Amino acid sequence: MPSERSRLSLGLFLLSTGHHIAGWRHPESWAAMPMDLRAYVRVAQQAEAACFDMLFLADNNCVPQTDWPAVRRTTREHILEPIALLSALSMVTERIGLVATGSTTYSEPYHVARGFGTLDHLSGGRAGWNIVTTSNSNEAWNFGRESHPQHADRYRRAAEFVDVAKGLWDSFADDAFLKDKEGGIYFDAAKLQVLEHRGEEFAVRGPLNLSRPPQGYPVLVQAGGSDAGRDLAARQAEVIFSVSQTLEEAQSFYADVKARLVAHGRDAASVKVMPGLFPVVGRTRAEAEDRMAALQRLLHPDVGLSLLSFLTGGFDFSPYDVDGPLPELPDTDVGKARLKVIADLARRENLSIRQLYERIAVSRGHHMVIGSATEVADRMQEWFEGRGADGFNVMPPTFPQGFTDFTTLVVPELQRRGLFRSAYEGTTLREHLGLPRPPRAVRGRTALPE
Ligand SMILES: Cc1cc2nc3c(=O)[nH]c(=O)nc-3n(C[C@H](O)[C@H](O)[C@H](O)COP(=O)(O)O)c2cc1C
Repeated sequence: MPSERSRLSLGLFLLSTGHHIAGWRHPESWAAMPMDLRAYVRVAQQAEAACFDMLFLADNNCVPQTDWPAVRRTTREHILEPIALLSALSMVTERIGLVATGSTTYSEPYHVARGFGTLDHLSGGRAGWNIVTTSNSNEAWNFGRESHPQHADRYRRAAEFVDVAKGLWDSFADDAFLKDKEGGIYFDAAKLQVLEHRGEEFAVRGPLNLSRPPQGYPVLVQAGGSDAGRDLAARQAEVIFSVSQTLEEAQSFYADVKARLVAHGRDAASVKVMPGLFPVVGRTRAEAEDRMAALQRLLHPDVGLSLLSFLTGGFDFSPYDVDGPLPELPDTDVGKARLKVIADLARRENLSIRQLYERIAVSRGHHMVIGSATEVADRMQEWFEGRGADGFNVMPPTFPQGFTDFTTLVVPELQRRGLFRSAYEGTTLREHLGLPRPPRAVRGRTALPE
């Protein structure tokens, strides 16, 4: 395993037809990708050939936007269920980590522990769970609720949710299964614990009907950037997906979460901070700029404005002049961290509403870099060495071309600089990330005394 922080970690954020919201219209894009397993197989194998640590699938239990005149122009309103998709991808890949979102607001710990535990078994220890409290309030309407629970309530539930999931994964000891044909004992019941959790949010007896996952627990990822989100990350996460526009923002986020980790008695190096990175790569800077301009020409104004409204908690921009300045945005209960990044960007660069949505439609507030492979690698190295990032969640503008540009041009450059692996050393996601396998904690009661 590499020594601490000698190399960066790379994840592929595998979203729909690519991260540029109009990218599906590009002549080289796979417009059918959202429902096409063969397309995902190709991209997952490409990411594995480039030695990526993981690929990540975001998720919503709803159609995220219902502004139909605008969203009929986008591909994001249909999405495959991620654990099913990752299970399929586990059959055609061997090393790459397989990470998906699981909501703590619209699911139960037993379901999540079982689903991600199963994925960890199927993939031989490559699963990761992105713990989210859900950023889209439309999910409430699919679960018999009038409205989305409050931010603080969602995070309180999330904290207990993760503890319960860990308790369930610890049901069986790693060596509980004797499979003693002679003696007729399949498992040692003294090595099975019944959780008997009774908390504020959940009553879960257990045990989980699954042997302990190969990684102990799937890798725990967290992506909420508010104060409550950072605290949850500091207590539980092993990877943090973040969103920062500038190196200064990234450094401030990085220092803050690492300090919180230490305050929780954890080793600062035990967590990887991975901001999103939207790369548009060309053989030269001019070629990259041309690619970006070609994508921007495909962006319909309604789509840009609608996405900006969505990411700012549903703010109604219709009374405002799109070529005028951004009005003061009220606080949102949904995605606090993203709102701040967007408002800061508009203020810092003095952007009109139109200029802002043209930027947001591209990367949704994540850092964007347009240039040659050398320029993109320089930026990544600067953020890595400047302690703004331990790695990146790579957000290609389109599939397959936008990702191919990254794997064929940027990855070899990172490898040449010794910043990224050229071959996998381990087989599990924990091994790729240099994370320890967590020991089983004793909790609940033993099913049968020894
Ligand atoms: C890279 C990344 C991926 C995310 N994926 C999801 C997702 O799949 N589903 C979701 O509901 N929220 C997702 N989020 C949103 C956050 O996890 C979080 O729920 C939201 O930002 C609100 O929390 P906050 O107020 O603490 O920022 C993602 C955020 C980031 C940065």
